Amino acid sequence: MKMRRNRRISRALSRDAYRLPPMKKLFIKTYGCQMNVYDSGRMADLLAPLGYAPSDAAEDADMVILNTCHIREKAAEKVYSELGRLKRLKDRKAQAGSPMLIAVAGCVAQAEGEEIVARQSAVDIVVGPQSYHRLPELIARVSRGTGHALETDFPAQDKFDSLPEEMAAPGASAFLTVQEGCDKFCTFCVVPYTRGSEYSRPAAQIESEARRLVEKGVREITLLGQNVNAYRGDGETSLAQLLHRLARIDGLARLRYTTSHPRDMSDDLIAAHAEIPQLMPYLHLPVQSGSDRVLAAMNRQHTAEEYLRLIERVRAANSDLALSSDFIVGFPGETDADFEATMSLVREVNYAQAFSFKYSPRPGTPASTALKQVPEDVKDARLQELQSLLFAQQGSFNESCAGRTMSVLFEKPGRKPGQAVGRSPFLQPVHVENAAHLIGQIRDVCIEEVQPNSLKGVFVREMAAVH
Ligand code: 5AD
Ligand code: SF4
Repeated sequence: MKMRRNRRISRALSRDAYRLPPMKKLFIKTYGCQMNVYDSGRMADLLAPLGYAPSDAAEDADMVILNTCHIREKAAEKVYSELGRLKRLKDRKAQAGSPMLIAVAGCVAQAEGEEIVARQSAVDIVVGPQSYHRLPELIARVSRGTGHALETDFPAQDKFDSLPEEMAAPGASAFLTVQEGCDKFCTFCVVPYTRGSEYSRPAAQIESEARRLVEKGVREITLLGQNVNAYRGDGETSLAQLLHRLARIDGLARLRYTTSHPRDMSDDLIAAHAEIPQLMPYLHLPVQSGSDRVLAAMNRQHTAEEYLRLIERVRAANSDLALSSDFIVGFPGETDADFEATMSLVREVNYAQAFSFKYSPRPGTPASTALKQVPEDVKDARLQELQSLLFAQQGSFNESCAGRTMSVLFEKPGRKPGQAVGRSPFLQPVHVENAAHLIGQIRDVCIEEVQPNSLKGVFVREMAAVH
């Protein structure tokens, strides 16, 4: 007991000797897309030098950040109910003499700004997705007792230039934001308003971040962007050129990128799927709808036929490619015939995985004020029909993997002792026994069992011993 106390004192002394602030706990709750996951990690990196260590629960935290999503109404509303819970926790903690700061970051912060504090006065800081590098300053401002702090206007470039080089060890697979914002202005989407116009990080900055990740044991990097294939680093480097450059990093075994727009699927990017062995055979290419009328009303800038021809070309570059997409049902004015066109496009493509949503009117977007909104029960029925088709396609893709040997990157322990879970090249979770010691490594695995959302495999040599 005494020894533990001494150790604690000496740790406090050594922190003092280096003039480090006392340890505090930071809890970040992340909503929405993978870019928010990346941003949450960077916020933690940014606050580490201020003495904030990550915590798994708001109850223990000195500061809670909600990194929010505004893409659909449900996602935004969740934030306010969470804030209600946090207010009660903050009050209890204040009574017990341990104050807690609450920050709202991400796209709800950007879209609603002051409105958040008006709806929930317990919020201390509101910080947009391009401004979170200013969190240390905002915390200082609030700590000085000058009320709440709000920061939502800054170009993405300032943020990337100000983020710390040092980052926490992220595990075997990491996200890396290469591009932010979107200039496409699909009529249903808030992203061009919350994340602003397109910005691409310089290729050299991305390469050095990728090298640092690999030094920390990362074997797979997913390049992120709201419209990642519109990437133009330094005004000239295409995403394909960036992928070629990153593929030269020793130890970086796997590359992925998401999310792409069909209009920006350039010839060199399609060719990259044939040329770069590290580029995994999986492409998330959202189409949203299979009806030309709806695609035009969405301002997607392509037809269903053009999308299908694109898929043919990508499949010609790599015949073993798994495809994924996003769909919206019940966009204003969508008729039964329009919806049937979506179903027929899905049948033609045959997806390995997909995400589908009911249209959600977002304030400030052109489609939200369209007169012909589709009734909720029609949206429900269409979503169910589409999802059962997509689920069946995912099931048959998974079935087609049975008996196949594929590489698996082990990422974390499974539920059973000794088990590990990894990802196949096609992004499916794969459970393998006696693999816990292989986390962070890639091994060939033979798929023995197929479940609706995951696979089970054995090592190839074990299979030879059993059969
Ligand atoms: N309603 C429903 N789904 C939406 N998405 C974007 N905006 C909306 C909206 N207003 C979906 C699109 C996009 C994915 C990230 O979210 O399918 O590709
Ligand atoms: Fe939103 Fe994607 Fe359209 Fe951009 S391309 S406006 S991010 S749906």
